[in-house]
Amino acid sequence: MLDLLYKRRSIRKFTDQVIEEEKIDRIMQAALLAPSSKSKYPCEFIVVDQKELNEKLSECKPHGASFLKSTPVSIVIAGDIDKSDVWIEDCSIAASYVQIQAEKEGLGSCWIQIRERPHDIQKSSELYIQECLNMPSNIKILAIIALGYKEGVKVGRDKTHLKREKIHKNSY
Ligand SMILES: Cc1cc2nc3c(=O)[nH]c(=O)nc-3n(C[C@H](O)[C@H](O)[C@H](O)COP(=O)(O)O)c2cc1C
Repeated sequence: MLDLLYKRRSIRKFTDQVIEEEKIDRIMQAALLAPSSKSKYPCEFIVVDQKELNEKLSECKPHGASFLKSTPVSIVIAGDIDKSDVWIEDCSIAASYVQIQAEKEGLGSCWIQIRERPHDIQKSSELYIQECLNMPSNIKILAIIALGYKEGVKVGRDKTHLKREKIHKNSY
């Protein structure tokens, strides 16, 4: 597990190689295995593998999402606010599981923040995506995880990355 975590980096450039269905299936199994407060399971996942749709999603916000236009598969991570008041926590864990399983599958991934982000001065990124993907308003969007085979090499982390001073023992 630690080897995977040291290796994982945010990948924003992908090759055109198609991701095998089995890999997407295992990634979604990981998402569905995430813990959930009070076993409410509010998370909903939209797997987007149509190029035109990912191109549309790449315009969901002015910065930080443009690489979706050349992303083979993206997963919209959303939560039903009618099912849980802590859908953000549940969805964050599921999104992390997606990223870790993606790394295990030899794929690159990147979190694209959607919650609290604007599309433009009139519309939120969330509303823009809800309209693109026919989502009802109670299904709130946390993030999009971009997935694909890595273009180029991004070195993993080593122990010098660890800010050990952030760890406190018994008292802050
Ligand atoms: C909550 C969150 C939001 C992020 N939003 C974006 C984003 O909108 N666009 C993007 O390209 N990267 C985004 N990232 C990726 C971060 O930029 C990246 O994790 C950080 O630079 C550390 O690099 P690493 O993931 O390679 O270790 C986000 C990461 C997190 C955890």
